[in-house]
Amino acid sequence: MQIHQHAQPLREQVAEWKAQGDCIAFVPTMGNLHDGHLSLVEAARREQTDSNVRTIVSIFVNPMQFGENEDFDTYPRTLEDDTRKLQQLGVDMLYIPNIGDIYPDGVDAATRVVPPAALGDILEGESRPGFFTGVATVVNKLFNIVRPDIACFGEKDFQQLLVIRRMVADLAMPVAIISAPIAREADGLAMSSRNRYLSDAERADAGKFNLCLQHLVSEVQQGADSQYAVMHASQELENHGFVVDYVVIRRQQDLAVPEPGDTKLVALAAVWLGKTRLIDNMCFEINK
Ligand code: PAF
Repeated sequence: MQIHQHAQPLREQVAEWKAQGDCIAFVPTMGNLHDGHLSLVEAARREQTDSNVRTIVSIFVNPMQFGENEDFDTYPRTLEDDTRKLQQLGVDMLYIPNIGDIYPDGVDAATRVVPPAALGDILEGESRPGFFTGVATVVNKLFNIVRPDIACFGEKDFQQLLVIRRMVADLAMPVAIISAPIAREADGLAMSSRNRYLSDAERADAGKFNLCLQHLVSEVQQGADSQYAVMHASQELENHGFVVDYVVIRRQQDLAVPEPGDTKLVALAAVWLGKTRLIDNMCFEINK
C-alpha cells in the first residue's frame, strides 16, 4: 500500500492508473477505522466490475467541521492501527494529507463550499452550525486532489450523504457517489468512532437507542400519527437515560417534512448519552 502525505506524488500515481484504464474508488475518512469504514472500501470495490479498481482511502481529521466546543483535539487518532487494517484489506493507497495540502492559508482563510440552508442548516446542521460547510469544503478539496471516479460514504451519516450528493450534482462534479448500509454492533448500536467515548455502563445501554428508533418506525408503518409517534419515541429515549437532541421523520430524498402521499421516509435522531453524542437513522416505506 502506498502512503502519501502530499498531493503531487498522489496525483502522478492516480494519473498513471487512469492512463491504464483503472477505476479510482475513494473513501474519505477521519480515521479510527472500524468495520463500517472497511465496508465502504468493499462497497466501492464491488461497484465497478468491468475495470480494475484502485482503492484510495484518506485519513484527515478536518478542523473546519468541528465547532469550538467540540472534540477536535480529543478525536481518536489511531494511525498505526488504521494503516494495518487498510494494508490487510489490500487498499492501494492511503492519503494522510498534511494540513497545508488542504488549507494552504489556514482554515479561516479558506474558500468554502456552503450547502443550501434547507439541507445543510437543519438537524445536524442546526445542532452543529457550520458542520456541513466544513464537510462539503473538505470533500470537495479531496475530490479535486484525488479525482476519483467513484466515492463511497456511509448511510449512518444520512444527512451528510445527501449534502455530498447535492454538492456533486449542483457543482457538476465528475464523480459517482455510492453509499453503504450502516454497520451495527450486535445490540444494534451504529458503529462510530465516537462510541469509544462511552463508559462501560453507557455502552451497555447504548443499544436501546436503535431499539427506540425501530419502535418509532414500526409505529408509523402501522399507521400511527407521525407527530404522536415521535413524541412517544422521545419519551422512550428519555426513559432509557438519553437526552434527546432531535427525533424526526423526514422524506428520504431531501429531508423535508413529509407531505401526504410521500412514502419513502427516514427516521433520524441524535441523542446524548452522558458526554457522548450519538446519531442514527432508519429508512423505511409506508403504504399510500
Ligand atoms: O464522515 C466523515 O468521516 C467525515 O465527515 C468526512 C466525510 C471524511 C469529511 O471529513
